[in-house]
Amino acid sequence: MALSTSSFALQHVAFEHHVTALGIGEASPRISWAFEGQPHKIQNWTQSSYGLEITRDHGSEPEIFFVNSSESSLVPWPSTPLSSGESARVRARSFGGNGFEEAQTPWSDVYQVEAGLLNEDAWEGAVFVSAEQEIYHQNRTRQPILFRKSFKLPRKVARARLYITARGLFSAEINGQRVGEEVLAPGWQSYQHRLQYSTFAVTDLLRAGENVIGVQIGEGWYAGRIGPKGKNLWGKKLELLALLVVEDKDGVRRVVRTDSSWESGYGAIQASEIYDGEVYDFRKTQKEWSSPGFKSSKDSKWVPTVETNSSLQVLAAPDGPPIRRVETVELQQVLTTPSGKTVLDFGQNFAGWLRLRVKGPKGTNITLVHVEVLENGEVATRPLRTAKQTDTVILSGGGVETWEPSFTYHGFRYVQVDGWPHKSTKLNSKSVTGIAIHSDMRETGSFESSSSPILNKLHDNIRWSMKSNFMGVPTDCPQRDERLGWTGDAHTFSTTANFLYDTSGFWRAWMKDVCSEQVNGVPPAVVPAPPTALQALLVPLTLWSDSVVSIPWDVWMSTGDAELLRSQYQCAKSWIDRGVPRIDSGLWKRDAFQYGDWLDPAAPPDDPGAATTSPVYVADAYLIYVTRLLGRVAAALEFTDDAEYYGAWASNLTVAFQEAWTHGNGTVAYETQTGLVLPLRFSLFSEPQHAEAAAKRLEDKIAANHFKIGTGFAGTHLIGHTLTEYGLSDTFYKMLFQTEMPSWLYQVGMGATTTWERWDSMLPSGSLNPGEMTSFNHYSAGSVASWIHGTVGGLEPIAPGWKRFRVRPIPGGPVRSAETTYQTPYGKISASWRMDRNHFVLDVDVPPNTVAEVILPGKDVGSNKVVGSGVYTFRSRIS
Ligand code: BGC
Repeated sequence: MALSTSSFALQHVAFEHHVTALGIGEASPRISWAFEGQPHKIQNWTQSSYGLEITRDHGSEPEIFFVNSSESSLVPWPSTPLSSGESARVRARSFGGNGFEEAQTPWSDVYQVEAGLLNEDAWEGAVFVSAEQEIYHQNRTRQPILFRKSFKLPRKVARARLYITARGLFSAEINGQRVGEEVLAPGWQSYQHRLQYSTFAVTDLLRAGENVIGVQIGEGWYAGRIGPKGKNLWGKKLELLALLVVEDKDGVRRVVRTDSSWESGYGAIQASEIYDGEVYDFRKTQKEWSSPGFKSSKDSKWVPTVETNSSLQVLAAPDGPPIRRVETVELQQVLTTPSGKTVLDFGQNFAGWLRLRVKGPKGTNITLVHVEVLENGEVATRPLRTAKQTDTVILSGGGVETWEPSFTYHGFRYVQVDGWPHKSTKLNSKSVTGIAIHSDMRETGSFESSSSPILNKLHDNIRWSMKSNFMGVPTDCPQRDERLGWTGDAHTFSTTANFLYDTSGFWRAWMKDVCSEQVNGVPPAVVPAPPTALQALLVPLTLWSDSVVSIPWDVWMSTGDAELLRSQYQCAKSWIDRGVPRIDSGLWKRDAFQYGDWLDPAAPPDDPGAATTSPVYVADAYLIYVTRLLGRVAAALEFTDDAEYYGAWASNLTVAFQEAWTHGNGTVAYETQTGLVLPLRFSLFSEPQHAEAAAKRLEDKIAANHFKIGTGFAGTHLIGHTLTEYGLSDTFYKMLFQTEMPSWLYQVGMGATTTWERWDSMLPSGSLNPGEMTSFNHYSAGSVASWIHGTVGGLEPIAPGWKRFRVRPIPGGPVRSAETTYQTPYGKISASWRMDRNHFVLDVDVPPNTVAEVILPGKDVGSNKVVGSGVYTFRSRIS
């Protein structure tokens, strides 16, 4: 056993779940820190107390707090609450030992936290404004609107903050410079309940003298076309709300707020819509419109704005990170299709857009059609259904023009380009760049196996599908006329998501909307649900609606934050108590509509719900799972009566399930892959030997199916875990490494760079599945990564927040080594194993203040090893 001598420090100090704690909604934010390295020569280090130093912004002495506690994650704010706009500087240190020796960290770096506007009054009279000249058409795309305000500042600025949001999407500029790095702000929420505002530090953009703030607003999700129900789903007017607070060095404050003194006009963007794309005409640019000294031309029609009565009550500070441009994707190839079209291949399917740097004659009209795949060598637009994903850029002839769209995004790998000015600009990776956007979450998990490049590729594809769909809302896909927050997809993938990224703020925000949209316990099938479609979407659905119980639980396991469990508890309870339509025994109403084992590979392309396992059977099994889980949630929250009540209810339902669906000999009504996985995973058999026998039948079934997957949404995310639980990991390795359709690696073999909606979105011939839902970027089937992390990599939390975790790699298939890391709330775990002739060798790094249970494969493993923090190497004999 080797010991690390690396330095021991606090890695960062965080507030609630914010990546950047500027403009947060919590007046008393909980504080966390993670450990970096290991205390010198001390194993099993746990914290016994901590110190926090808090320095308030306005001159007072630092306050120092010492607290006897082993908690290092989400500890209470020890000082008085922050007021609106107030900031504080915080540092932390940690004391502890292992019972024999002591070690402490030095003080951490100083971290800044700043409250946003915590109530309506803090907006200091700012009101929503709209454009007087805006003409409303129910079916026509509106032109994005420019809002501007010129104002004078007598002195140099010492500190300035811009608080801003829109009904629509905004992009702001001050004195000609872009404010912040957010795109598609304020993102998509259930706007009637919650509208996020952003806070930007804009000190450096302002100066003494004349200043201008300019904001452009597009339709976005708020007023654009979303789902099948047309446009203007949340409102008919694009509106802006902004408050600029400026302080000079003597602390004298000035504010600039939205009111009717702002003017509005139109610029170069002619249209911009989420599904359909953007039309940008450089000839119509209002040069310098957000800079001092701007003089509008006669035909540019700047007119006053109108104050609207829109309520400020729904305003909320963000919980999760904003959407940003996170990566660039380089152009790989310029292709000429059989019909002579020019097509760009980025080599990677992703969500985002193109950046162009192009010079061409005035009036050059470039169109960009974005698609995921080619069919017969041409761009395949059919899977997009009615979404156009087409950007049009018209050049002014005024030299090199740089363009990116503002209020749209696309899911694509290929772009057909028409009208490119080849004579003046080469079409290559210098003139065209792919920009990938998504909620900018912190990456927490990684997996790699040097012995299996194909498994790495699958893992990479899974990550790309997550990135493409975590867009403020967990969308099903980023390309077709859908891109909705389907709750069922989120249910199947949340464990995987929580490993790959710190999703805590992301879920916290979205779950608030899920909760506030519930009616009589039933959450809509997609959240946010367009208000006009809400009634139709309020369908009680197993797996989909069950996400109100399962996701908070999954998040609790990865973060240890009981607050999310607590704030979601009533909503989870109301789903079980009131939402589920039942028959007398408490099981699901038999004729309730269900998606069930959606996209079972045996279902015909045009009927994805026609699964081989009955939807009622699936629904009953899940009902027991979520009822029992709710009991466990209640226990975690110390609601003892509820814990007992739901526990007992789950047991009664289990008996009802057995009566309804199992036979005396232990067989079940649906002896399919999903039909066997669910009762095994949810412990629904009356006798242990029936479960053992069912596991054996599942193994046989899978073998008879040549190790091809036979599950849809309900079974896919559970099958690997179930097989492992019954000692059948080898069977799942064979499924995972199957390359024939339907299987995960079939897709990889077909050149996939993301995970597909259907096992056969592309058929072996290269033609596309004829079904009308054929996406190449759905994250749901990527839930297999939670098995890869937990079984191949061997990492799984045992206690909430990974305070205690298991390291149990189970080698199999062609995998001879694997390296897995996870950034827990306490620090980074890494587990790296390899087969060394007849030995299995495992290196593990256990972060301070945590405990690992290590279980080795092989012959001479003896009892499990339980270790505290430290750096270890373990070996076992495997042959
Ligand atoms: C979506 C799915 C979703 C489903 C509901 C589809 O159109 O893309 O992922 O869960 O509808 O069954």
